[in-house]
Amino acid sequence: MCGIVGYIGVREATPVLLKGLKKLEYRGYDSAGIAVLGGRGLEVCKTKGALKNLEEKVAALLPRADGNPQEARFSGTMGIGHTRWATHGEPSDINSHPHTDISGKIAVVHNGIIENHGKIKEWLSGRGVTFRSETDTEVIAHLINYYYSGDILAAVREALKRLEGSYALGIICENDRDHLIAVRKESPLVIGRGQGENLIASDVPALLEYTREVYYLDDREIAFLSRDSVEFYNEEGERIHKTLSHIDWDAAAAEKGGYEHFMLKEINEQPKALTDTLRPRVIPAGNDGHSLRSVNLAEIGFDSSWAKAGRVVICACGTAWHASMVGKYAFEHFARIPADAEIASEYRYRNPIFDPHDIFIIISQSGETADTLAALRLAKKNGGRIIAITNVVGSTLAREADLVMYTWAGPEIAVASTKAFTTQLMCVYLIALQFGYLRGKLSREELDFYIAALEKIPAQAQAVLTNKETIQRFASLCFNKSKVFFIGRLFDYAVSLESALKLKEISYTHSEAFAAGELKHGPIALADESTLVTALCTQEALFDKMDSNIKEVKARKASTAVITYEDVHHFDQTAGAVFRIPRTPDCFTPMLTVIPCQLYAYYCSVLRGNDPDKPRNLAKSVTVE
Ligand code: F6R
Repeated sequence: MCGIVGYIGVREATPVLLKGLKKLEYRGYDSAGIAVLGGRGLEVCKTKGALKNLEEKVAALLPRADGNPQEARFSGTMGIGHTRWATHGEPSDINSHPHTDISGKIAVVHNGIIENHGKIKEWLSGRGVTFRSETDTEVIAHLINYYYSGDILAAVREALKRLEGSYALGIICENDRDHLIAVRKESPLVIGRGQGENLIASDVPALLEYTREVYYLDDREIAFLSRDSVEFYNEEGERIHKTLSHIDWDAAAAEKGGYEHFMLKEINEQPKALTDTLRPRVIPAGNDGHSLRSVNLAEIGFDSSWAKAGRVVICACGTAWHASMVGKYAFEHFARIPADAEIASEYRYRNPIFDPHDIFIIISQSGETADTLAALRLAKKNGGRIIAITNVVGSTLAREADLVMYTWAGPEIAVASTKAFTTQLMCVYLIALQFGYLRGKLSREELDFYIAALEKIPAQAQAVLTNKETIQRFASLCFNKSKVFFIGRLFDYAVSLESALKLKEISYTHSEAFAAGELKHGPIALADESTLVTALCTQEALFDKMDSNIKEVKARKASTAVITYEDVHHFDQTAGAVFRIPRTPDCFTPMLTVIPCQLYAYYCSVLRGNDPDKPRNLAKSVTVE
C-alpha cells in the first residue's frame, strides 16, 4: 500500500522525506517521489522503481557545497513524499506521486482509491483541464486548484465534498509556505508533533527519528500543520480537539502496525481488503434505475459475447489454485456452465483441448509466477480470451492478459498468502454471479440476494477475527500434533486444501486435505491418536455425511475439530472442539472458514518457534520453474 510522508519545520525537507519513505518501504511500492517547497518554488521529483532510483535522481539535483545557493534545487523546509503501490495506471514516472494541478503550484500525495475519479475527470475536462497521468489521484490536485481562491484549507474542504472512496492525503501549495495539510478517510495517517517542526506519515516508523508524540487522524478529519502548531478540523470546517499519544514501541514493531508478524497483520487486514475488492464493483440499489443491486464488471469487458462460452477454465498455482477450485464450484453453481480448475504447472505440459469460446481465467497474487505465465501464453496461443485476476498492477500477467480484474488487497509481504486468497475469492464470486445472471441462470432478485450476502462478508470476517484468542488457545493445545488433516465437501474441500497448505508451509507440520468422502478409500488408514482432523462443515445438505466422517476418525482415536455456522449444533456432541462462523449462503463460506485455519497455521508456526513471515525453502514470488 502507498506510503505518505510530509514535513514542515526548520530542517532541509528532502533528506527527512527520503528517510521517511525508506521507513515505509515495508508497505510495498513500485515507484516513489517527493515535492519540496523552497526558494525555487514547488519542485517535484518522481520515478518508477526502487527508492534508490529516486535518491539518485534527487542527489543529481541537490545543491553542491561549492554551488551557487540561487541554483540550489530541492532545498526547502517543507515537502511531501510518497511510495506508490499502483492501483490506477501502471507503475511509471508519470503515474508516480506527487501529482500537481495545471498551475504546478499545488502538490498532492494520496493513499487509497478515489472511486468516482472517472466522473470528476470528465467534469474537469469539460472545464479545460488536461490530465497527464492515468491515476485517480491527479483529479484531486486539479479539483483543489479549481476551488482555490487564496485559502488552501477552504479549497481542500470544497474538493473533499466531491471525493468518494478512500484517501489519506498530504497537500502543499506554493502560495502558502507556512502550512501542510493532511486528510484522512479510510486510509491511515499519523501526525507527528515535534519542536518547531511537524510531520505526517502513513505509519509511525517514518516519524520516530523526530518525535514519539503523535496524533492519530480519524476518518474525515483534516490536520492543518504549521511549523509550530497543528490544528484539526472536521469536514464542516469546525475546529476539533485531539489528544496526543506517546509511542513507546520499537521501530520494528511499528512497521508491522503493532502486530508481531506481517502475516498476522495481513490476516487482520482481510475485512478492509474484501471491502476494497467488492465495493467498486457493486452498483447499489437505485443507482442504475433499478431497485435491486447489480454488479459492474466493465473492467473485464463483460458483455453478451460471453454468452457463447461453453466452458470456463481457471488456472493458477498454490493458494491461487485453491481460489480456482472455489471458482469452479461457483461457476457451476451460479452459471450452470462446465468449469475446470487447472494447476498451471500441469496444464502447461499437457495437450489441453481448447475452444476459442472458452473463458480462460488466470489467478496470481504476484502476476509473476513462471508456471502461471506459461499457462497464460499457451492459452493465448490457442486463441482464448484471457482474464487475469491479480493483485499487482503492471505485473507481467496484467500486461499479457487481455483483461484484468485487480484484487485491491494491497501488498502482501508475508510469504504465506492470506488476504490475496480471500480477495481472489471475492473476484471469482463476482464474475460467476454476473455470468449466471447473463446466462439467465440467476434472476435479478437472486443476484441482488447474493450481492447483499457478499456485502456482509467483510463485517463477518471481522467477527471471525474477533474470536482469534479461541484459535490461539486451541493451537497451544495441538501445535505438536504430528499429522493434521483437513476434510470437507464441495466448497469446504477447496478450503481444506488451502488450510492444509497454509499449515504445512509455515509450521512444517505434516498436513493434508481430503475430500471427506474419500477418507474410506484410503486416507483413513493414517488416522490414529497422533492425528488431528479438522472438519469444515458448512454445506448444510451434507451435515449428516460429515458427522459420519468425524465419527469414523474418532473411532480411530484421532482428535477432532469442526468449523461450522454459529447457529448449528449438529456437531457439538461429536467434535472435540467447535469453531463458529456467521451465517452466509453455503457457497460463500470459504471467505470465512479459511480465517480460523489461517490463524491456526499462524499460531502453530509461532509456537513451534518458526518465523511465519519467512518460511524455510519458500519464496514470495516463484518466478522460476
Ligand atoms: C501459499 C502461497 C503460494 C502461492 C503460489 C502462487 O501461501 O503463497 O502457494 O499462492 O506460489 O503465487 P501467485 O499467486 O503469486 O501466482
